[in-house]
Amino acid sequence: MFITLEGPEGCGKTSHIPPLVEFLRGKGYVVFPTREPGGTSISEQIRDILHDLKNVEMHPRAETLLYQAARAQIVEQVIKPRLAAGEIVISDRYYDSTIAYQGYGHRQDLEQVRGLVRYATGGLTPDLTILLDLDVEVGLRRKKQNQSEWNRMDDHEVEFYKRVRAGYLEMVKAEPERWVVVNAERKWDDVQAELKKVIVDRLVKG
Ligand SMILES: Nc1ncnc2c1ncn2[C@@H]1O[C@H](COP(=O)(O)OP(=O)(O)O)[C@@H](O)[C@H]1O
Ligand SMILES: [Mg+2]
Repeated sequence: MFITLEGPEGCGKTSHIPPLVEFLRGKGYVVFPTREPGGTSISEQIRDILHDLKNVEMHPRAETLLYQAARAQIVEQVIKPRLAAGEIVISDRYYDSTIAYQGYGHRQDLEQVRGLVRYATGGLTPDLTILLDLDVEVGLRRKKQNQSEWNRMDDHEVEFYKRVRAGYLEMVKAEPERWVVVNAERKWDDVQAELKKVIVDRLVKG
């Protein structure tokens, strides 16, 4: 089972994954957490380029392609082998982030971006994608309180993130069987409880 967490800055992806992993391991599952961009040596090096605040001149097409290079590597080196071994892989972001940020956020041609994503992933689609949905400004305020994590991708204007959120919600509409939307504006504990429930439900149903 391949689970991905998506959503705008500060929605809680990174902080929710470790306790979810512990919870599932406690139930006897073999679980492998990972993150994008990153998760392999090559992909982490690309992550550093993407996140470096010095790289102000990066063109959206260069950005889009760097994400796909990082993604192709983690898909082949980590995600596919783990899934083939029967493990649960939980990823902090995956290709829907490219559609949302590089597609809707940077207003790149969506069909072209989808084509690049298919090439990068070799067609590997998540079984379950959870959108941690919240007001863009609430998320950015949360993120700003944790400045150590501030990077180039956090540094766009608010309108960019509004397009990202709208893009996510369109993707949910287009593929409702893959997506579950969780309201991430609630207390952290309540969000965590719902995430556990959503994942257990899906594991039981298969
Ligand atoms: N439901 C919540 N209520 C209040 N603060 C939260 C909530 N979820 C996350 N946070 C805080 O917001 C910040 C960003 O969370 P994080 O998990 O890093 O989000 P993301 O990885 O989606 O950007 C962290 O400081 C985190 O503790
Ligand atoms: Mg994060």
